[in-house]
Amino acid sequence: MNIIPGPFTVEGKQATVQKEIKENYETYFAHAVKTRMWFADRLPERKEMAKYGHMVSETTKEILLGFLGVESFVDDYVLAGINGAGNSLATSALYLQWGWEERRHGQTFRHSLIDSGLYTQQFIDKYLDDCREEHWTFANQTGYEETPLLAAAYAIFQERQTRWNYTNVRRILWKEYGSPTNSEGKHIHPAIAGAIRYPETDEGAHEANFTNITRIYMKYFPDQALDALLKVSTHYRMPIVQLPNGDEFVRCVLAAGLGNPKDVINEIMNPALQRMGLSDRPALRKAVRNFRLLPEDAIVHLQGKPLSGIPDDAAIPIYEMLPSGDFNLTRPASEIDATCAVPHPMTQDDDDEINK
Ligand SMILES: [Fe+2]
Ligand SMILES: [Fe+2]
Repeated sequence: MNIIPGPFTVEGKQATVQKEIKENYETYFAHAVKTRMWFADRLPERKEMAKYGHMVSETTKEILLGFLGVESFVDDYVLAGINGAGNSLATSALYLQWGWEERRHGQTFRHSLIDSGLYTQQFIDKYLDDCREEHWTFANQTGYEETPLLAAAYAIFQERQTRWNYTNVRRILWKEYGSPTNSEGKHIHPAIAGAIRYPETDEGAHEANFTNITRIYMKYFPDQALDALLKVSTHYRMPIVQLPNGDEFVRCVLAAGLGNPKDVINEIMNPALQRMGLSDRPALRKAVRNFRLLPEDAIVHLQGKPLSGIPDDAAIPIYEMLPSGDFNLTRPASEIDATCAVPHPMTQDDDDEINK
């Protein structure tokens, strides 16, 4: 194996990953403080809730209660992130900030349900007490012990699905509120439909953050990043938590059209993978399989995103990963035959084998 000085040794790459993760955290934090500073108890929409409460359907009410339940496990989610962070201070700091933001989501649902007169405060607090008897763990959710990379890869999908859920419930609420518009005909979102936009926006920022982190690994350790994405996406599902209203919640989520497996693939999994440079789940499986066939010292980059800092005279084969999961040899090492672009071209049989 070639030992290349600079960022392309394993140690060099690890140090660069940590440096970029720290920079990502600093950017994330600065942006969050500037653009997403809000407090659940001070949302102006709370004043409108008493007026609109009677319009919320039984199904939506049950779903909102379930959302409160899922968000209430925030301390378990944060703990998993910090446990997995090891000695990376930037990763721990990120999970603390992220936890602070997640906590206000549960508070938003709590205020929304009580202020709208949908449940009493006593009912909600008993519900939250019952939730606290259960715990969420990363291993139980995914089948793997948490690492910063696995946690980030899993969070991409979870954050995206949460935002998607909130967007859809906001639209449902808007209809239940009588499809209100302003004098120019533009949709307006009063009461809970307005309040839910704050968590919805946070979840979008969270998805982007975990995507950025996974991309950093993808740049320097593509094999590990691909492997992590495959592991957490194979049996992906929303947080496995025991909710006191678990059965009713699932029934209402399905009744509201939010539990369609096709939507999870088309609206959650594939768009998230597309941001990582892959077209869909079969392409991810193919990329993992193909990666194992590359020469050991190969360097890989995403299509159209070459890496800088590789010495011109280094005898390292460089490949680009295509959205299909195939790899193209873009710079052969001197002893490698340039015509042998893919070491072992995939066949349909291979695809079938992988897709099993
Ligand atoms: Fe959240
Ligand atoms: Fe989130």
